[in-house]
Amino acid sequence: MLKTGWQSPSNIALVKYWGKHGRQLPNNPSVSFTLSTAATRTFIEWENYNKFGRVELSFTLEGNENQAFAARIEKFLDSLIDDYFPFLREVTLKIDSSNSFPHSSGIASSASGMSALALCLCEIEQLIKGEKADQDTFMTKASIISRLGSGSACRSIYPEMGLWGYHPDIPNSSDEFATGVGADIDPIFKTFHDDILIVSAKEKSVSSTAGHNLMVGNPYAEARYKQANDRIITLLIALKEGDLDTFGKITEDEALTLHALMMCSDPSYMLMEEGSLAIIKKVKAFRADTNIPAYFTLDAGPNVHLLYPHEYELEVKSFITNELKQYCHEGKVIHDFVGQGAQKIM
Ligand code: DP6
Repeated sequence: MLKTGWQSPSNIALVKYWGKHGRQLPNNPSVSFTLSTAATRTFIEWENYNKFGRVELSFTLEGNENQAFAARIEKFLDSLIDDYFPFLREVTLKIDSSNSFPHSSGIASSASGMSALALCLCEIEQLIKGEKADQDTFMTKASIISRLGSGSACRSIYPEMGLWGYHPDIPNSSDEFATGVGADIDPIFKTFHDDILIVSAKEKSVSSTAGHNLMVGNPYAEARYKQANDRIITLLIALKEGDLDTFGKITEDEALTLHALMMCSDPSYMLMEEGSLAIIKKVKAFRADTNIPAYFTLDAGPNVHLLYPHEYELEVKSFITNELKQYCHEGKVIHDFVGQGAQKIM
């Protein structure tokens, strides 16, 4: 059996992807910081033997059989055979994944998990075909396959920042794949920390797909898509110029907008908890008192990400210990930071 392995991180969106259509295509462009500590490592062993002419795989999570995940991955790979990976009819795969963060930490593993899987598959395809694509072509295909697994996953593979979704004023932007935009940002953003305050470690109560679908019929949907298009441009300029103030305003308002959209969907849902709100208020007060550029954001869940430049690490860490930890489940905080994207590990 031959073996390949990739590690890929999670990411945190600044302008959020919320609403999709067609085959995992976004209704607006989004941009994210690539993280580092929260990552998935996936190894695939494969052999050129397949009795059935359809996807044949076994899947283990941290070395333990996991039927539910195996079924989900099998379905996903089946959907890729005709258009992307005909070779899947001819091989048998043994997949093992592990996450650097605990399963019940409230951190979604789909972005890191799907991107690590996609990179392994793209590499196996090359080895089987005996052709090596250039780096850009390889990463673009890996981003497309990641997106088909989970939209936000397509942004995770690039160093520092990923941008996904077509915008008429952004050259090379596409709904099909993300591109890396880390080269276009002020160095201060490359030092950013993301301390993830685990308010709740529970599984998500609403799946992402169900959440995205509720944008259909949301009365604010069109205004929201326009806002995201405008903000992407303002944010990219702020990132380039090192404008922390504009960065912070957009980042925080994006998180609140995402949660507001969920609150006014039909059915509505409320994913912040008391602790999330308490943390948000404290972060605002801390910034007003100290002038330290620390900003919050949230995904579609109660956990709060605190983003700030490295130079303020000591002050922010003691603020977390003294004032925020009390709202975290068992005092849990994951200390993450802007990272270098996916890496080949075998
Ligand atoms: C709120 O990428 O998890 O985190 O495409 O259905 O897998 P699917 O959704 P997913 O949605 C992420 C939504 C978000 C915002 C973001 O990451 O841009």
